[in-house]
Amino acid sequence: MRSIRSFRADAGGVRVEPALPEAIASSPVPAAVLLPDRTIAEPSCGLTRLTGFSRNELLGMPLFSLLEKGRAHPEAGRAGSWLLTKDGGRVPVTAYIPEGPRIALAAFLPLEGEMALAVELKAARERLAARERYIEDFRTGVFRMITDLDRSESELKGALERLGETRMQLVQSSKMTALGELAAGLAHEVSQPLTVIKGLSLGTLRSLPQDSPSYEKLHLIAEAARRMESIVRHLRAFTRSEPPAMKPVNLNSVARDSFLMLREMLRSHSIETSIELAEVPSISGDPNRLEQVIINLVTNAKDAMPKGGALKISTGTVDAQGKKYARLTVEDTGEGVPAELIGRIFDPFVTTKEAGKGTGLGLSIAGGIIKEHRGEIKVESERGRGTAFTVTIPSA
Ligand SMILES: Nc1ncnc2c1ncn2[C@@H]1O[C@H](COP(=O)(O)OP(=O)(O)OP(=O)(O)O)[C@@H](O)[C@H]1O
Ligand SMILES: [Mg+2]
Repeated sequence: MRSIRSFRADAGGVRVEPALPEAIASSPVPAAVLLPDRTIAEPSCGLTRLTGFSRNELLGMPLFSLLEKGRAHPEAGRAGSWLLTKDGGRVPVTAYIPEGPRIALAAFLPLEGEMALAVELKAARERLAARERYIEDFRTGVFRMITDLDRSESELKGALERLGETRMQLVQSSKMTALGELAAGLAHEVSQPLTVIKGLSLGTLRSLPQDSPSYEKLHLIAEAARRMESIVRHLRAFTRSEPPAMKPVNLNSVARDSFLMLREMLRSHSIETSIELAEVPSISGDPNRLEQVIINLVTNAKDAMPKGGALKISTGTVDAQGKKYARLTVEDTGEGVPAELIGRIFDPFVTTKEAGKGTGLGLSIAGGIIKEHRGEIKVESERGRGTAFTVTIPSA
């Protein structure tokens, strides 16, 4: 380490008055004599007191390792700086450090009182603000994470519920499919022996005199076979084992046939029935399928009136945009369709009935059939008052 003595003897060819370093060394002002390379050649005792470093420790120390790098405090202006102390602290000072590579005297003026306080306060405030920002960012991050988690959890719950519903609907619909296939198979099996019974009974009937004792019995057999044939036909239409057979149809006769078929069933459920047929234009349609629509609508109406009520089937003509339509309405005085259901009532698997009682397919089948007829089906309902389904099919 270079000492004041060697500095005196060898100062890079620069002459220094020997009295100056000594005067500095004993000065209470924090100062230091610097060599051209900015190392300390002589610290004042004011500097050793202020920094806590001994004279020997300071000798030869680069001046800038005593100053906090890159941070000048704004209150003290450009020359303001922090002097580092041996115990790791720092003292705010105004530093006077002459520039240039020459022997020089650096002096430090400690900032005291309000000024020092203001500097410390400002620095503390900045540190606090930075910490607050960090905490705030952290809190926002955690909050966002919690909300995201909440949302994912409820989405998962919803998805699981929907999955459960879909699974139940699938089970139900596969049961329906199996049932449909069974019914179609049964209809096919039954129709042949039925043809034999009907053919033989009618043939024998023709060869018998009307007053024969067997005539009445055979007549009953032939009649029963005819009815069974019609049931089988319905069954086939229902299971769709037959393609649609479009032909000119009078909606009134379909309505009347269905009405006569369903009237007894409705009466047994304490439901009063009525039919009002008005003139309708002829349409192109499949009577069996149209009958199926009416059966589905009437069955729903019956289910909506568990304590009885009134059901009306009516027909008429609708004129719209220069075109004629045949109209059929099925009205009931039942409980009405729940409001949240009305928009999707024609969707498959929409049902309020308990498992095993309804599959939610009736109206979607009806909607499909009406679409095949290029028609429309609409619903109007009032909770607790009743429901009306109206079908319109363009004239042929
Ligand atoms: N006339 C009506 N009055 C009140 N609600 C009705 C009426 N018609 C249909 N609905 C409601 O619409 C739902 C769907 O009817 P849809 O006929 O499609 O299925 P479903 O009767 O429940 O079962 P499925 O007909 O397959 O046996 C019913 O569950 C019921 O809630
Ligand atoms: Mg139904």
